[in-house]
Amino acid sequence: MIRILTTTVALTAAPFAAFADGHSGDVEVLHWWTSGGEAAALNVLKEDLEGQGIGWTDMPVAGGGGEQAMTVLRARVTAGNAPTAVQALGFDILDWADQGALADLNAVAAEQGWDDVVPEALKAFAKSDGQWVSAPVNVHSTNWVWANTAVLEENGIEIPTTWEEFTAAVETLKAAGITPIAHGGQAWQDATVFDAVAMSTGGPEFYEAAFIDLDPEVLGSDTMREAFDRMAFIRENVDDNFSGRDWNLATAMVINGEAGFQMMGDWAKGEFVNAGLTAGEDFACFRFPGTQDQVTFNADQFMMFDQDGEVSPEQAALAMAILSPEFQSAFNVVKGSAPARTDVSDEAFDACGKKAMADLAAANESGNLFGSMAHGHAAPAAVKNAMFDVITAHFNGEFDSETAVEEMVTAVEIAQ
Ligand code: BGC
Repeated sequence: MIRILTTTVALTAAPFAAFADGHSGDVEVLHWWTSGGEAAALNVLKEDLEGQGIGWTDMPVAGGGGEQAMTVLRARVTAGNAPTAVQALGFDILDWADQGALADLNAVAAEQGWDDVVPEALKAFAKSDGQWVSAPVNVHSTNWVWANTAVLEENGIEIPTTWEEFTAAVETLKAAGITPIAHGGQAWQDATVFDAVAMSTGGPEFYEAAFIDLDPEVLGSDTMREAFDRMAFIRENVDDNFSGRDWNLATAMVINGEAGFQMMGDWAKGEFVNAGLTAGEDFACFRFPGTQDQVTFNADQFMMFDQDGEVSPEQAALAMAILSPEFQSAFNVVKGSAPARTDVSDEAFDACGKKAMADLAAANESGNLFGSMAHGHAAPAAVKNAMFDVITAHFNGEFDSETAVEEMVTAVEIAQ
């Protein structure tokens, strides 16, 4: 279900009739977009709303992947003080919808024709029981590698297309005294790398069976052990200070030429762009070797918390601003993601953005589009967190690969 994208092209300038008037208040927006590139993208949204006379109360909660933001959200909701709008991912949205906490966005969606232009893969998380419960902002994907072009050239490295070519490039960089892999040792970052490594090791059927179907045999397989062995190779090729480092500081290591590669979702592109670098010239983006035909995606969405029984005019205006084709282009060009609508031109996007959009369409077409395990689009939070614990413990040397595989099977079983 989450693999089908619609291709319908239907774009009308929404009349905004039902929602144009009557908003005078502010929106309070809880999000985790605190890096330089993320903040630049968020500004596009803030300015859009300010242009409509809507004030913005910022509620940033730092922490890539959004775990800390979700903790703050739970506290706010428990205290009876939910923010107006909240950035969220995949299964977390469905969870809040099941609890009846979210405003019904159907009227807004109907007015702007969301059903015709939002990909099915996103609708699977934006709609609950046929009701729109969140406004999709973008489509990110996690199976990317980012590289400093000058570093590659100086070391005679071509873009690696297989795991073997990748390990050879890593050895070359190490021999040259350059940190081969920029990484931040945080559970969600370890898991983000694991998305790509698992896909590359076992292919799409393995990925789907392990992370989406949670098949114990596949979770406990030799292929899974091999994926953990590859993680151990990556661990050997990060610098000594990797532990706890924020993802954007790892990106900065590639930007500064201190490190060769970073495996990270395409929000990393926002950092390169924010530093004034050009895709395809100063930096390269490529799919993790062995995953050229696959896309492991995550889509940021804004859930609107139900505050007085129905969607407020401010919430409606925010949702409509997010889904407008102009915003979808302007925001995602800066953010590093692909648009959440299928009818947005790639004209304004740089080489990596164009590739993101083309890869997404191709992966969908060929049945190779899968939800990211690391970013809450493969399994509910309890299972995701159980996987994180095992992946991180292994990355930090607590488990060998054999033990990690056994722990993975048990942890996922307990979490369900
Ligand atoms: C979000 C991105 C964000 C990244 C790092 C991901 O979960 O989808 O929008 O940039 O985390 O903070």
